[in-house]
Amino acid sequence: MSDLKDIELGESLKTPSNTNGVTGSEPHLVKGDITESLKQVTPSASAPASASANKYPINLSFKDVCYSISSKDKKTKTVTDKQILTNISGQAVSGSVVAIMGPTGSGKTSLLNILAKRCPITPNAKLTGSLLVNEKEVDDKMFYRLTSYVMQDDAMFAELSVFETLMIAAQFQLSKHMSFDEKKKYVMSIIQELGLIKCKDTIIGDARTRGVSGGERKRANIGVELIKNPSCLFLDEPTSGLDSFQAQSVMSCLRQLGTSGRTVVASIHQPRSSIFAMFDKLLLLSEGKCVFYGDASASIKYFTEQGHECPTTFNPADYFLDVVSPDFRTKELEVESMDRIKKLCKTWEGNGEAEVLEEAEGGGTEEQTESETKKETTYTPQEGASLMTTNTDVVADDNFGYQSSWLKQFSLCFKRTLLVTSRNKMAIGGKVFGSIFFGLVLGAIYSETSYDQKSIQDRVGVLFFFTINQTFSNMFGVLNSFTADKVVVERERAAKSYSASAFYLAKFCGEVPFNFIGPILFGTIVFWIVGLGQGDVLNFIVFVILLALIGFAAIALGLIIAVVSPTIEAATAFGPIAVVVMILFGGFYINIESLPSWLTWVQYLSLMRFAFEGLAVNELADVQFTCEDIIEGNPCTTDGQQVLDRLKFKNSVAAVCFWLVVYTCIEHFIAYALLVRNSRKYMNIEKKKVD
Ligand SMILES: Nc1ncnc2c1ncn2[C@@H]1O[C@H](COP(=O)(O)OP(=O)(O)OP(=O)(O)O)[C@@H](O)[C@H]1O
Ligand SMILES: [Mg+2]
Repeated sequence: MSDLKDIELGESLKTPSNTNGVTGSEPHLVKGDITESLKQVTPSASAPASASANKYPINLSFKDVCYSISSKDKKTKTVTDKQILTNISGQAVSGSVVAIMGPTGSGKTSLLNILAKRCPITPNAKLTGSLLVNEKEVDDKMFYRLTSYVMQDDAMFAELSVFETLMIAAQFQLSKHMSFDEKKKYVMSIIQELGLIKCKDTIIGDARTRGVSGGERKRANIGVELIKNPSCLFLDEPTSGLDSFQAQSVMSCLRQLGTSGRTVVASIHQPRSSIFAMFDKLLLLSEGKCVFYGDASASIKYFTEQGHECPTTFNPADYFLDVVSPDFRTKELEVESMDRIKKLCKTWEGNGEAEVLEEAEGGGTEEQTESETKKETTYTPQEGASLMTTNTDVVADDNFGYQSSWLKQFSLCFKRTLLVTSRNKMAIGGKVFGSIFFGLVLGAIYSETSYDQKSIQDRVGVLFFFTINQTFSNMFGVLNSFTADKVVVERERAAKSYSASAFYLAKFCGEVPFNFIGPILFGTIVFWIVGLGQGDVLNFIVFVILLALIGFAAIALGLIIAVVSPTIEAATAFGPIAVVVMILFGGFYINIESLPSWLTWVQYLSLMRFAFEGLAVNELADVQFTCEDIIEGNPCTTDGQQVLDRLKFKNSVAAVCFWLVVYTCIEHFIAYALLVRNSRKYMNIEKKKVD
């Protein structure tokens, strides 16, 4: 499979095109359609015309947002409150771009997460204030349906092209009532809107593989979040890490999205002046407090009034950051800067805030008044709010859940896994070449293994080597790939693209063929060169089955470690520890009956103990050994059963296979339960108690 054409072909053949005469380019939802659109009763209601068609204007207002985390000093046992955000208020109206600016550590990401209702649950954290959508409180599920969050780090598969990435997201997130062609048309409209036409067939790429440029990657990431046609888009530092030209192009896109009626809220660290000019509203933070909130164009005047006049040749963004950043270079500078910040925060709390709120409630700028008037002809906030409240009662859960069936989710995840893995040609080539080379080397080393007394050690040694090799290669294959995919998977699961079970099963099935190529190739070469199993074909078949079962168990173990490990580094550190413990309890380095009685139970946690026993029984049960090389006076081991008795291996091959299957099932159950448990959970915003 070289690209997504297989998926496309299958889809377009299976999915009948929309026959009710409504095409994807029909005018989009009008007043009152929100209920219908979310119900997705008909294909037309759920088929957005294009990315620029905003279905539902959102006005976000937040008041007195406070966020603190308390921590206990281990020495003094005193509890201290770290105030991350203090009384932050403001609005983000439909059709506008709101920038959250401030020095590093000022609370931009924290505020953005809170506004997006995506503040991760943190022990001892307290979050209070109010967050309203069109002046009403809104149900979380509804909120997530109407909003999207673009993370600072782009989380996409490096091996897929821009089009494939967006197309897969569309198949996951768009209604099943939309035909494949409609989805394709919709994706193309997003690609067009984001200016990605030129690079639509270029792979996303990463640090190792060259792909699209940084700006294009960021825009592709925004595109993925635009698939569900959100009314409100939150972005954490969308321009960080980009050069100023790329940053400008990303911000132009956001400006365009705002103009098309969406609410855009972005945290931005240090925008160039042309980017600053694109902001409608500016929320300036310092030390977790608001220093300014209002029209970005009014900020220069406000700071001049406070005695901080921005020189005409300066970028206002740079100047404001200089003014509101604490300066820790010397004690004097620190005191001076902190005094300045305190004064600005206090003034804002007193006068500034009042002025801006007044403006928001009554006056407003000409531009605002115009946009409000425009809104009245399409959808008033009141109507929207009442409809939203209605929606939370009326709309079935399904509308906030998965858009495609479990089988469809599984098949898409499976095809994507195959596609991504098969494109990694270097890895596959390395596996094949390495296995053949290594197999020939090992085969050469053991090629003179006969049936004399010393061959007993050789046979047992090569079998235990197989056990280690099969476990390591399968486990590490999945450790690397699964941990790398985790960020994408978490994002997609949070976006309700697919269920954990569909993803888990697809990932397992998709990985199997690629993980098995190497070990099976390696096993086959060594088996026949060394002459294991007395050259018996049936013995060889059982040998391959055992290798496969060991591989399944190792993959499942790798999945457990990958699910609990936060990073690839952590996973590759935990992995060898687990394998080394299993090697020690595998029955080769220490006889299982020599283990201290209080440690015997550990052998049952070691998949190598069963794996080695299975391979040893298959190899040795019927073998006869000669005594020609016996050292005089020493006893002669005449058959393999004596070796097995010495190793204390009493199970049959069938029993070992059964236990390996049970072992694998238990591991999968644990890995899956951990995956479900590890899904992202967010904090609720509490109402402030009035004393
Ligand atoms: N879970 C947490 N535990 C302790 N402190 C936290 C936690 N989350 C945030 N903080 C602190 O809150 C402050 C604000 O963090 P935040 O990430 O919101 O800042 P920021 O303005 O986005 O910074 P940057 O520009 O570097 O991204 C920082 O001092 C940070 O250390
Ligand atoms: Mg941040």
